[in-house]
Amino acid sequence: MTDDTAIRTDDLEVTYTGNRDVTALDGVSVAFDENKLTAIIGPSGCGKSTLLKSLNRLHEIQPNAEIDGEVYLGDEAIYDTDEPLPEIRRRVGYVPQTPTALPLSIYNNVAYGAKIHGDYSRAELDDLVERYLRKVNLWDEVKDRLEDPGAELSTGQIQRLCLARSLAVEPEVLLCDEVTSALDPISAEQVEETLENLKEEYTIVMVTHSMDQAKRLADDVIFLYLGELVEASDTRSFFENPQHERTREFVKGHTAVDYDDEPSEEAATDEPPVASR
Ligand SMILES: Nc1ncnc2c1ncn2[C@@H]1O[C@H](COP(=O)(O)OP(=O)(O)OP(=O)(O)O)[C@@H](O)[C@H]1O
Ligand SMILES: [Mg+2]
Repeated sequence: MTDDTAIRTDDLEVTYTGNRDVTALDGVSVAFDENKLTAIIGPSGCGKSTLLKSLNRLHEIQPNAEIDGEVYLGDEAIYDTDEPLPEIRRRVGYVPQTPTALPLSIYNNVAYGAKIHGDYSRAELDDLVERYLRKVNLWDEVKDRLEDPGAELSTGQIQRLCLARSLAVEPEVLLCDEVTSALDPISAEQVEETLENLKEEYTIVMVTHSMDQAKRLADDVIFLYLGELVEASDTRSFFENPQHERTREFVKGHTAVDYDDEPSEEAATDEPPVASR
């Protein structure tokens, strides 16, 4: 952990109970730096979404989820706090894979959270709606139809609307779970451009299945495997000089563009997974 840490987990363990208990996260300690975009990668079922949701206690929606360990938002332990849950979820926003507009106008989709959390005049709300629609590069496309239903926008536009809605309550951290995977290539590119701009100002934690997207967007990358943190480093080191054999294999198997920088044998170790960085 450094002074730049925005949010971190400490020995986090999440188990889904049932006929057969599933340990989705097994002692994960990792720090996410302020104003950086960190990509979480790993095979399907390795615990990426569980880790993301545990950062704002969203996994608690699943009644069979049990958690051990802690998450610190700044200095505050979010599982051991008197702060109301809606406030934690305002401070740590979540954008899901499948974008869904609220059954409200475009304007009110953005203003929704602000209306609940704050006391704004109409003029202040107008400013806020414009500011956040501009931030997600949607303003020019919708400024003449703000009273139309949000649901009438295209899927890619709705994903940017969801981003605007999350940002309008001024979160400290933004969690994005495969936010481009349900989109056509052009919409995905627009959402990527938006994230690229936002990462200057926000701490973003993003799950992605695309190594190319992680390379393009992320400052840091963490790799999970079977609920354990295997590797965490800056993006360049991660892709050019991965420290663990398992990371190398995963990256090689999932990279569409050239990955010819064969790391040296010494770079690969048989050490157990790193549990912190
Ligand atoms: N509600 C649940 N009940 C039982 N098991 C669950 C539940 N949610 C997730 N799991 C299990 O926990 C593990 C981690 O799931 P998680 O959704 O975090 O993985 P993921 O890395 O996001 O996968 P994907 O890439 O497919 O989205 C998996 O084995 C999954 O089957
Ligand atoms: Mg997932």
